[in-house]
Formats: sequence, C-alpha cells, structure tokens
Amino acid sequence: MNGRTSHGLLLCIETSCDDTSAALVRDRDVLASIVSSQHELHAEFGGIVPEVASRRHTELLNDVVAEALATAGVGLDDLEGVAVTIGPGLIGALLVGLAAAKTFAWQRRLPLVPVDHLQGHIAANYAADGRSVATPPFLCLVVSGGHTLLARVDAGVEYRIVGRTVDDAAGEAFDKGARLLGLPYPGGRELDRLAGDGDPSSVDFPLALPGELDFSFSGLKTALLYHLRGLSDSEVASRRADIAAAYQDAIVRQLVGKVVRCAEREGMRNVAVAGGVAANSGLRRALGEACAERGLALHLPAPALCTDNAAMVGLAAACLPAIPWPEYLALDAYAAAALAERA
Ligand code: KG4
Ligand code: ZN
Repeated sequence: MNGRTSHGLLLCIETSCDDTSAALVRDRDVLASIVSSQHELHAEFGGIVPEVASRRHTELLNDVVAEALATAGVGLDDLEGVAVTIGPGLIGALLVGLAAAKTFAWQRRLPLVPVDHLQGHIAANYAADGRSVATPPFLCLVVSGGHTLLARVDAGVEYRIVGRTVDDAAGEAFDKGARLLGLPYPGGRELDRLAGDGDPSSVDFPLALPGELDFSFSGLKTALLYHLRGLSDSEVASRRADIAAAYQDAIVRQLVGKVVRCAEREGMRNVAVAGGVAANSGLRRALGEACAERGLALHLPAPALCTDNAAMVGLAAACLPAIPWPEYLALDAYAAAALAERA
C-alpha cells in the first residue's frame, strides 16, 4: 500500500522473540513503548529457549500492556484498533502476542492490523520523535539477530530485497563472537561496549567477499575462534577489548561497504538502518562517516527503536490495511519470512 492510513489510537503488541513489548501509537506518534526483556531468563542457557520464551510472554504481557496504557494516560476504551506482529519469529512466542491482540480487539469490536516483523523494523525510521523522518525511496540495511539484508523501500513499508547474507545474520555474528569472548548473552550490546575501549587495528580479521551485494559472516566467526585458540588465557584476558574492537570493525566494514556499493548501484541517495544491530555504536559512526563523504542522506532511528519493540509495529501499521472485526479471528502467525522470501 502506498502512503499512510490513519487507524487512530492503536494498541501495539510485539512478542516475536524474547522481548515482551506493548506500545500506544497514533499515526507516527509514539505515546508509550514498554519493553520487558527476557534476557536474564535466557542467559543461563546461553541463548533463547523458544518454549521458555512463550511461557514468559504469557506471564508478562498483561502487565506490559497495563504499563503502556498507564504511561500513555489512556484506557482500553480509548483504543481505535490493535496492531500485532504475526511473523517471522518463534512461532509459540508470536502466537501469544496474536492471541492477546485478537482478544483485546474482539472484545471491543476493533479492527486489527497484522504486521510483518521486518516491516516493523523498517518502520522504526518513521517515528516522529524529533529526528528527521525517513522519506522513501530509501535503501534500508536491515540487521537483526535473524536477518541481514539490503532492502529498497519505495513506499511505506513495501520493500524489495537487493542483497542478503549467505550464511549467518550480523546479529548472530555479534552474539557468537561475544560468546567466544566470554561475554554474557545476548552478546551484541556487550561486545559493542567492550569494543569502545579497544583498538580495531589490533587484529587483521579477513573481509568476506561473497556476491556483490551479499554478506557473509561465518568465516569471520571461525577466524575469531582460531585467533583465540592461539592465545593463552591471560593473553585473551588482557587483549579482550582490542579483539572485540577488531571483530566489530570487521563486521561493520562489511556492512558499510555493501551499503555504499548498493546505494551507488541502485542510484539511491537516502539510506536508513533497522534491526537490533542498527543500535551498534561502531556501525552508526562508520555509516555516518561513509554517507557524509558521499553526500548520502542517512537516517538512524533511536537505538531503542532498533531493537525489538512494539512502537515500530504501530509505525508499520500506519502504512498497512486493517482487518475489520471479527474477520481476523482465524488469522495465523508464521515462523518463516513469508514476505521477505517473495523477492
Ligand atoms: O532486532 P532484534 O532486537 O531482534 C531480532 O529480530 O533478531 O536484534 C537482536 C540482535 C541480537 O543479535 C543482538 O545481539 C543485536 O541485535 N544487538 C546488537 C546491539 N544491540 C543489539 N549488536 C551489536 N551492537 C549492539 N549495540
Ligand atoms: Zn527484530
């Protein structure tokens, strides 16, 4: 759909992975956004346990919705619609959010807007939060725990994939690297923090060269593994920040290089980023410099809108059609990237 649709005040729900989130959004205004992270719960397993995530969503969701309503100063009777992520993600986790969304909407005979998770991430660039708002057409680097792709966004949240990872996602590369460095789960943010104290030129990690606009990170992870194996425990301990900085730099160089090449090839002058890895300080800095050098306009969403949140679901909903009451009762969630795969 081209342009925007006004659905009025939306209760928005996002439970695709390990963050339980609810938001109140009216068009491009985010009135409240609450994220209850399950990171500590999954840390002891070193990764997300899907069944544990689903159960935790059921425990947290009502409180998270109540807190979002209270923060926005509105009640359930003020709602004009409900928006919810229906995929891709962990199927059990998605179904918790979808069941809750249907219940809130059905009870009050409200319309429901189903939202694709990647379209949600892209729509984070549309928040009216005092920053400039991205204007299509733009090239969007989508970098999360499950996806790494270059998308041409021509209108609203409609996109066409022009490049993607051939193996791991950038977020996986961060999380696996962090794990090898002994950092707690989820490692991306911890590695980012540690890298801030290190020297990126301390280790010469290889730059992968897959197809022109594609990405590859699995070789980098192996290079880190072998580098660490060649060091004693005390050497690893004393050089951890330098190694983290060099590893992050290798990921960032690949991402920025492909963005620049893609912008040139597609003739795009506007660039945006989306997804959890878009919160990375090294990526934000390097992309800022690369775009400035080439006269490209860069839009960076606030870091809290890059990692999973329900506000982005409402921002995407503003570009999507609603399903009227009660036609959405049979609506299902999907685990795999139905929309992303169509390109
Ligand atoms: O978008 P997101 O919250 O969830 C998915 O849809 O996957 O992305 C999560 C990913 C994780 O791999 C996490 O480690 C990474 O984003 N991440 C970061 C940072 N913050 C989150 N990676 C690097 N630096 C960060 N500051
Ligand atoms: Zn995500």
